Amino acid sequence: MTTLHREGLSLDGDAGRPGAAGTVPSGYFRRKMLIGGEWLDAASAQTLVVENPARKQALGEVPRGGTDDVDLAVAAAGAAGAAWARIPPRDRGRACLAIAEVLEHRQEELARLIASETGNALRTQARGEAKWVADVFRYFGGLAGELKGITVPLGEAMLSYTRREPIGIVGAIVPWNAPAQLASLKIAPAICAGNTLVLKAAEDAPLAVLMIAEICQAHLPPGVVNVLTGYGAECGAPLAAHPQIRKLSFTGSTAVGKAIMRAAADRVVPVSLELGGKSPSIVFPDADEDWAVEGVIAAMRFTRQSQSCTAGSRLFLHADIFEPFLDKLVTKLKALKIGDPLDDATDIGSIINERQFTKVCGYIEDGLRRREARLLTGGLPPREGPLAMGYFAIPTIFADASNDWRLAREEIFGPVLIAIPWRDEAEAVRMANASHYGLAAYVWSRDIGQALRTAHAVEAGWVQVNQGGGQLLGQPYGGVKESGIGREMSLEGMLDSFTETKTINVNMALPPPLH
Ligand code: NAI
Ligand code: MG
Repeated sequence: MTTLHREGLSLDGDAGRPGAAGTVPSGYFRRKMLIGGEWLDAASAQTLVVENPARKQALGEVPRGGTDDVDLAVAAAGAAGAAWARIPPRDRGRACLAIAEVLEHRQEELARLIASETGNALRTQARGEAKWVADVFRYFGGLAGELKGITVPLGEAMLSYTRREPIGIVGAIVPWNAPAQLASLKIAPAICAGNTLVLKAAEDAPLAVLMIAEICQAHLPPGVVNVLTGYGAECGAPLAAHPQIRKLSFTGSTAVGKAIMRAAADRVVPVSLELGGKSPSIVFPDADEDWAVEGVIAAMRFTRQSQSCTAGSRLFLHADIFEPFLDKLVTKLKALKIGDPLDDATDIGSIINERQFTKVCGYIEDGLRRREARLLTGGLPPREGPLAMGYFAIPTIFADASNDWRLAREEIFGPVLIAIPWRDEAEAVRMANASHYGLAAYVWSRDIGQALRTAHAVEAGWVQVNQGGGQLLGQPYGGVKESGIGREMSLEGMLDSFTETKTINVNMALPPPLH
């Protein structure tokens, strides 16, 4: 056990302390981790700096958690587990509903925090994400009464029934691209189902998650929700390997997802993995219209710099509409305003950090070098002017590309769209499926038979027809192939991912008592 650095329960800080609804976070944030109901520094006393990527400025700092902190948090979650599991599900749900109320009340504050630490535009992204977070707690809170088992008809002499029991301590690790949304999607179903949880926030975007933790803590017994901050190797890896963790839920890169699964294999711990994608958008010739163009822009998640696992980043356009569709797409893309995420006029914010920015630029450079790939719009970001003040990338399209090309195979996680022509429906499906990923897919056609045939043939966990929006609560969501395992966003997801089924058989045919 480690020496604790307890400096009172509240989040200390000279600025930006969450306050009443409507207050706008500003200044330099100093935050702590939530462990067993207390706000703690790292045992090492080290911190890491959180950057505002749109300004390349330090926004605040959080503890640089490590193995000792993981041990402490898991112990706190363990200590809280038995009592929490015994609370009637509807009462656990009520706690989630109370959390939802506060989250809804403070959604603008949460949205500004998300925009500041991720670079995602407030109007087009962060507000929607903050609203989602409240919805998630409300949705799962309302479902608490549905943690039902079944009875199995095995004859009059036997009662056979199942119980949906909590698994135990959940270890959750989330990325930075939709930090608040993804954290809430782990916390709410896990605790509603009676588990306790240790969640590690992403090093690039821990502040919004800590705000959610603060709101949760006001409505929960200590130790039910614990939130750690720190780097993946130092804090995430010991969490994944901790012997008392009974379930691992991870969202992030495929490479780290594989490492999580290996760690889980040692202890035969169930995993839910939501990993990368290289999702196809297949456009039929009858969809050469504005609504489809707008849908393709939404599907590519251009207004979140395409930093989304579900980005429709391979655009398979029928050859007959290749040029006119791309013309419309380029015109609409150029109308989107890139800039300060906190400015309401901004459509597109900044890339999360320098490493991702450099990676995205590397892909664009590769595209510019390739003779056969035609740059239609975008290209490398400006080196001077206002956009050089942050990690701003320009929406970029390469046309006439091959599906075998690195840019058409690897998850770029930035606004680089690859347009590939096709003539034959089977060929479009074959190319769409020639990927080790299988998360999302988009099909665009007014011919519903054709669209559904294609939707069924595409290897993906989630296919949208004639729309390109984000995930919707209540439907099972997750990927196939190397995009992941498990479905988490629904009632079924809560039951499958956060409960264990116990079967009880009762012999009802005992002989009469002897006395
Ligand atoms: P990452 O997978 O390294 O990070 C995600 C989370 O995992 C973070 O909280 C991180 O601290 C943690 N982590 C990292 N290494 C770990 C380890 N060894 N053990 C336990 N936890 C660990 O993703 P990163 O580096 O931020 O982004 C790299 C690429 O990953 C992106 O370019 C994108 O392609 C993909 N990605 C996919 C996401 C998705 O939603 N599916 C989200 C974020 C990134
Ligand atoms: Mg940051």
